[in-house]
Amino acid sequence: MKIIAPSILSADFSILKDQIKQTEIGGAGWIHCDVMDGQFVPNITFGTVVIDAAKKSTSLPLDVHLMIKNPDSLIPNFINAGASYITVHIEEVVHIHRTLQKIKELGAKPGLVLNPSTPLNLSFEVLEEIDLLLLMSVNPGFGGQSFIKNVLRKIEEAANYREKKNLKYLIEVDGGVTKNNIKDISNAGCDVFVAGSSIFHSENITIATQELLTMIKE
Ligand code: DX5
Ligand code: ZN
Repeated sequence: MKIIAPSILSADFSILKDQIKQTEIGGAGWIHCDVMDGQFVPNITFGTVVIDAAKKSTSLPLDVHLMIKNPDSLIPNFINAGASYITVHIEEVVHIHRTLQKIKELGAKPGLVLNPSTPLNLSFEVLEEIDLLLLMSVNPGFGGQSFIKNVLRKIEEAANYREKKNLKYLIEVDGGVTKNNIKDISNAGCDVFVAGSSIFHSENITIATQELLTMIKE
C-alpha cells in the first residue's frame, strides 16, 4: 500500500477545504498537518483550531506531525480535534514509551519522527510500539526545502529492520518529495509520502497528486 499525504502547510488557508478536496480527488490517502511552535523549530504554523477545520473538510485520516516542545500535555487536544495519527519527535520526548502508550490509550495511532541527523538505532527499543515511523528528509520547520539524499539509506535500513523483526510500522518520508525523486524513495521502502509544495504550489493540485501516486503505484 502506497499513500500520498499532502501537507497542508503549503496550502492556501483561505480556501483550505477546497484545496483538501482537490487532493482527495487526485487520490490522496491521508492529510498531513504540520504543527510548529516556534520553539522546537524556528517557525510557527497552527494548532488544534486548524486540525478541527481539516477534520470537517475531509473524511481522510489526519496525520498530525507535532514539531513542538513538550508535546505530552497537548496530545489529548489534538486527538480530540480529529487526529488519526500523532507523530512525536524522538529528539524532544524524554519518556518516549510513555508518550506512545498515551497516544494509543486516547484512541489514536502513535508514530515516531526522526530528524535527518538522528540515527535509526535510537528508535529500536520502541519500534514495536508504533504504527508509523516518520523519517524527515529535510530539517523540519519549512516547506519547499530540498530532499536530503542520505535519508534513502535510512529508509532502506528501516524497511530491512521491519522485515527482520517482523514488525508492522509504516515508513513515511517528509520533506522535498517531488516527481523527480518519489520513485527512488518508494524503491527504498517508503509507504507514505508527504508532499507539500510539489502538490499545493503546482498548477493543478488534483493532477499533481495523481501524478505522484501514479509514479509509485505497484
Ligand atoms: C517540514 C514539514 C513538512 C513540509 C513538507 O518541517 O514537516 O511536512 O510541509 O513540505 P515540502 O513537501 O514542500 O518539502
Ligand atoms: Zn511534516
